[in-house]
Amino acid sequence: MKTRNPATPLSTNRHLLRWIEKMVALTTPASIHWVDGSQEEYDTLCAELVAAGTFSKLNEKLWPGCFHARSDPSDVARVEDRTFICSLSKDNAGPTNNWVEPFEMRRKLKGLFAGCMAGRTLYVLPFSMGPVGSPMSQLGVQLTDSPYVVVNMRIMARIGLPVFAEIDKAEKRVVPCMHSVGRPLAPGEKDVPWPCNPDKYIVHFPESREIWSFGSGYGGNALLGKKCFALRIASAMARDEGWMAEHMLILGLKNPDGEKAYVAAAFPSACGKTNFAMLVPPAALAKQGWEITTVGDDIAWLKPDATGRLRAINPEAGFFGVAPGTSLKTNPNAMAALAKNSIFTNCGVTPEGGVWWEGMTDTPPPVCTDWQGKVWTPEIAKVTGAKAAHPNARFTAPASQCPTIDSEWENPAGVPITAIIFGGRRATTTPLVYQTFNWSGGVYAGATMGSEMTAAAAGTLGKVRRDPMAMLPFCGYNMADYFRHWIKMQRDLSDSPRIFQVNWFRKDADGKFLWPGFGENLRILRWIVGRCQGRCRARETPLGWMPRYDDIDWTGLDFPREKFEQLSTLDRQAWRAELIQHEELFLDLHAHLPKEMIFERELLICRL
Ligand code: GTP
Ligand code: SPV
Ligand code: MN
Repeated sequence: MKTRNPATPLSTNRHLLRWIEKMVALTTPASIHWVDGSQEEYDTLCAELVAAGTFSKLNEKLWPGCFHARSDPSDVARVEDRTFICSLSKDNAGPTNNWVEPFEMRRKLKGLFAGCMAGRTLYVLPFSMGPVGSPMSQLGVQLTDSPYVVVNMRIMARIGLPVFAEIDKAEKRVVPCMHSVGRPLAPGEKDVPWPCNPDKYIVHFPESREIWSFGSGYGGNALLGKKCFALRIASAMARDEGWMAEHMLILGLKNPDGEKAYVAAAFPSACGKTNFAMLVPPAALAKQGWEITTVGDDIAWLKPDATGRLRAINPEAGFFGVAPGTSLKTNPNAMAALAKNSIFTNCGVTPEGGVWWEGMTDTPPPVCTDWQGKVWTPEIAKVTGAKAAHPNARFTAPASQCPTIDSEWENPAGVPITAIIFGGRRATTTPLVYQTFNWSGGVYAGATMGSEMTAAAAGTLGKVRRDPMAMLPFCGYNMADYFRHWIKMQRDLSDSPRIFQVNWFRKDADGKFLWPGFGENLRILRWIVGRCQGRCRARETPLGWMPRYDDIDWTGLDFPREKFEQLSTLDRQAWRAELIQHEELFLDLHAHLPKEMIFERELLICRL
């Protein structure tokens, strides 16, 4: 077979060609590679990454088609303080985003990108967020000097020739995404396994719908279809066009009669979306015929259809999941999805060429190479606390390999949404579950959600911060306008989804989780869907409707009534402090804050 010359353009779109010409002149790469998205190309790039020392090939028998990468120790998570929303006016970025005047930022970027790809290949990577051709999908082209990004994007999005064909139809606007690891090579200079730059810029221009990312090769900083496009830029598109781009998983719940209901749930980073999306029903409930199917695990685009039903698509094609804690016990569906054709980053590697991470097995391997390439043993770990895998180690796995993938997951029209769930990580204060009284009460609960910070972002672990709708790091415009958009959306809905708040992470006085979580979350999900269908009972509380112990199906689980009471406790002192934090958020956002938020807070104060 004759192999194609990768420098030959795969598109005839004049705007695209002109933009690439300009970017090549700016970044001065040694060569250009148009990405066709084929298996052959993927295999070649992976082989090159192995040769370069970025990838190691895992044991083909144990982990067929899998690779492991070790990042630079300074490039392990999203960098929120280096993430910018450069709208024309500062007011449009709002107080929760970093803003720089767009002309000033463009000048800065021009300097950073000048010659930044010297000695490297520039890949022209076309991608579709959402099934190719779906009316809800959006197109982007990422120019990147990272082959690691190209192979990860092939799993995470639809890429290559079919996308070029869409672009050449030129009916949709294409979002230009510039990406460089920011480490040009001098002539003859040997590359490092994980090139990056200590100076990082993750920049969004929401008005012109552009993304510029410099200095990082990791996750959401570099796979630009994900957080940068599908959330930050898409949220701005969605506001303008009457839809929603949300940090949400989508799952289906099938009851023993075969009826299916879909729910979307927003939990902050590393707070359980992937696990909930792939939930395994407890044996006793599975036997009755309860089933969970997975549509998406991180991002949902929601839009009312012609009849006013809210429908959702998963714009992604893969899972970029947190590795630590993932096991056959906690998430066998993720384990099956990542068992082959997957890429692992910052995990431990065992002598026989497998990956391992904390929580994968009860007994750790006697020895492995940790995420920094050092020798790791359980004995060393006991003394130093060293981890084999970085807490934000990730797997990149094709969604199609997930055993619970929903039959409708690629339906171009999306799936109808019955309930929306918000969930933070809170050791105290927030009860296990409640249903908000109505849409605006639900928007209030989402808007004021608090959550403890996790390793998914560089920053202080464990600190409670307000993370409205789990979108604090991902909203591409003024957060208060985003609340207004949420409130407005209900007008286009003939039957609005009911809104719920959950907290799987409440702890007892000894610091132990009160709720077993994972599969047992199905019991709560059943109550949630049952409430939407008028099939489950509840009691009224100041926060909303809460299940009594007897409103939950406990078949097959011996869960003490007192523990459930503890999980549902409303500590009035703690809620006073909570309300003050709501007020602090609102003070920051006051200039654009919808009145509904103020009224909801007042009502909550009165009820408490
Ligand atoms: P991102 O990919 O960063 O957006 O994260 P995510 O929201 O998909 O989180 P994920 O499902 O990967 O879970 C993150 C961590 O939370 C893992 O360590 C899980 O083991 C833990 N976790 C998930 N669900 C539960 C639960 O129900 N209870 C408890 N206690 N822990 C959970
Ligand atoms: C998150 O942090 O919410 C993630 C991982 O899903 S990243 O793609 O790095 O943003
Ligand atoms: Mn996420």
